[in-house]
Amino acid sequence: MPKSQTVREFSKSESSLDGMTSPTLPAHIAIIMDGNGRWAKQKGLPRVEGHAQGMQTVRTIVEECSRIGIHQLTLYCFSSENWKRPQPELDFLMQLLESYLIKERPLLFEKNIRFSTIGRKDMLPGSVQNEIDETIRQCSNNTGMGLCLAINYGGRQEIVDAVQKIATLVKDGNLSISNINESVISSSLNTSGMPDPDLLIRTAGEMRISNFLLWQISYAEIWVTDKTWPDFDISTLNEALGDYARRERRFGGLKT
Ligand code: FPP
Repeated sequence: MPKSQTVREFSKSESSLDGMTSPTLPAHIAIIMDGNGRWAKQKGLPRVEGHAQGMQTVRTIVEECSRIGIHQLTLYCFSSENWKRPQPELDFLMQLLESYLIKERPLLFEKNIRFSTIGRKDMLPGSVQNEIDETIRQCSNNTGMGLCLAINYGGRQEIVDAVQKIATLVKDGNLSISNINESVISSSLNTSGMPDPDLLIRTAGEMRISNFLLWQISYAEIWVTDKTWPDFDISTLNEALGDYARRERRFGGLKT
């Protein structure tokens, strides 16, 4: 299926994106939520206050994306490299994730949001793993927007894991080398079954991918804002969606 078919018609009544001609919505938005520490520093607060405020932004953006009809939202919450941070910050982040899942579950359920995670769950504290499992269980019959939290996620690690899975299939005689193709690789990744991101948003101004969804973002439109994640709001989201709708996606082809 051509990727452009994954971009659905955007109804003006669904959002405040006024004045655009033939607007379209990305099916899948992925966000690198950066700048929590800088937000806190600017306000003379401890770094962890930035993460706590960042959690409020997560709530706002999840609700808004679900309301306007986004199919999939993937949020980079904790990278496999973030373990290098000081222990008190790691403890805070893990507690925040746990309390987010406990507090937000009723809202996710009420909004019919499907829930999943990507990343190596087995290295997370048991209490976080339990809340992830419980959230997946409670949202398992939901049919609306997919919310995927990338926790202890690293794009290179994900590719290594996929190569190991595929090599095992070949070794056991269940797959021939000539049948290894893009679709086999895509379906061996953590994101199997999800459309690739159409729009990748990064906050706090850095022009980096930071090991996020390396395979999946091949043709994503990248949108970077100087706003830190705690300051990211619905109007910033609409700005990104407006820019996205005005871009021409050619997927390596020519202008139509
Ligand atoms: C990057 O900011 C942010 C993170 C490493 C953590 C992201 C976490 C949240 C948004 C809150 C928790 C989310 C949920 C779903 C509960 P940074 O600390 O690297 O900021 P800096 O670059 O300004 O230091």
